[in-house]
Amino acid sequence: MKLNIACIAGDGIGPEIVREAKKCLDKVCKEFGHEIEYKDILMGGCSIDAYGVPLTDEAISIAKSADAVLMGSIGGNTSTSPWYKLEPSLRPEAGLLKLRKELNLFANLRPAYLYPELKDSCPLREEAANKGFDMLIMRELTGGLYFGDRYTKDIDGEMVATDTLTYKESEIRRIAIKAFEIARKRRKSVISVDKANVLDSSRLWRKVVEEVHKNYEDVTLEHMLVDNCAMQLVKEPSQFDVVLTENMFGDILSDEASMITGSIGMLSSASLNDTKFGLYEPSHGSAPDIAGKDIANPIATVLSAAMMLRYSFDLDKEATAIEDAVKTVLKDGYRTIDLMPSEEKEKLTLASCHEMGDLLVKRIVCK
Ligand code: NAD
Ligand code: IPM
Ligand code: MN
Repeated sequence: MKLNIACIAGDGIGPEIVREAKKCLDKVCKEFGHEIEYKDILMGGCSIDAYGVPLTDEAISIAKSADAVLMGSIGGNTSTSPWYKLEPSLRPEAGLLKLRKELNLFANLRPAYLYPELKDSCPLREEAANKGFDMLIMRELTGGLYFGDRYTKDIDGEMVATDTLTYKESEIRRIAIKAFEIARKRRKSVISVDKANVLDSSRLWRKVVEEVHKNYEDVTLEHMLVDNCAMQLVKEPSQFDVVLTENMFGDILSDEASMITGSIGMLSSASLNDTKFGLYEPSHGSAPDIAGKDIANPIATVLSAAMMLRYSFDLDKEATAIEDAVKTVLKDGYRTIDLMPSEEKEKLTLASCHEMGDLLVKRIVCK
């Protein structure tokens, strides 16, 4: 098979982690006899520096003509980088939001799984870590607060800022259908997370999710308020299978879920529409504090590349080969610095970003 991939390295640690993910993809293709071609695109701060905008029309058309997009991360330090003196529509994040919207990537899948080897890196109390967890956060990605009208104006002598949160039934229905379909292939449980005790958009969310559920009675549905969910994730994460939620709640809850897997450097993601096309990126950002030091954890990006093989190309064995390599490398005791527990370090070996990539490449084999 020939894989045409548009590649966005981005800013900060982006180029470092994407380099390692490409190494893994190249090895998979070599092992399984596929051909891969990358077309590089600038997005985020690097595109602002080159073209004055965070995403050019040409970059969008290259992304659209590829089979899938592999991405690192974009953005800089939001307090100190000159990119954040620009008007909001010209800042790095605007490029990513535009790409998600242009490609209609409404379903964002963020799997949070605790590898047994990472129990010592999990900040939960021992009992919860020992139980383990395996959940999939399904975040709506092209609606809600991120895409509502926003404005700031002077009203009666003081500045008033407004951000609007809007959801259409159709937007809720399509993500709910995807969540139930995916739950059917997992442990058949959906917990839908909202704030229906306060928000109209959440009350509509609940109603539409319940309607969709009528076609999926083999899947259990529960509703949970988002504040309770934030707490339950820390108390008893094993209760979650598919977590279905709107854009902003999903952004926040997925960062929380990432940390209980050991590090935000472990959380991969796939952003999908109704075709085979997808954008695959780690859930974390550009980590400006560690950029250029070769210490970032590339695993979230590598696992995102595995999701790409599975969802955009139906290459299950190839995706599993990457996932197995991650399991083996952790079992063999290699850790990037973010995963190093404070105790029992002597059994483990510290790996830099590029060393972790090399260790994974060695373990990717066609069985
Ligand atoms: P961040 O996720 O970049 O970093 C938060 C913390 O996690 C930092 O201490 C960082 O060093 C650490 N971290 C993140 N990824 C890591 C990895 N792979 N290995 C080891 N440690 C890792 O979040 P932030 O600092 O709030 O945001 C920085 C910039 O990234 C901002 O401009 C933000 O807008 C952007 N951002 C981009 C994306 C994206 O491209 N999808 C996602 C989130 C944030
Ligand atoms: C993410 C990021 C983005 C989001 C930012 C960079 C716009 O935090 O992918 O989780 O909020 O969606
Ligand atoms: Mn986020």
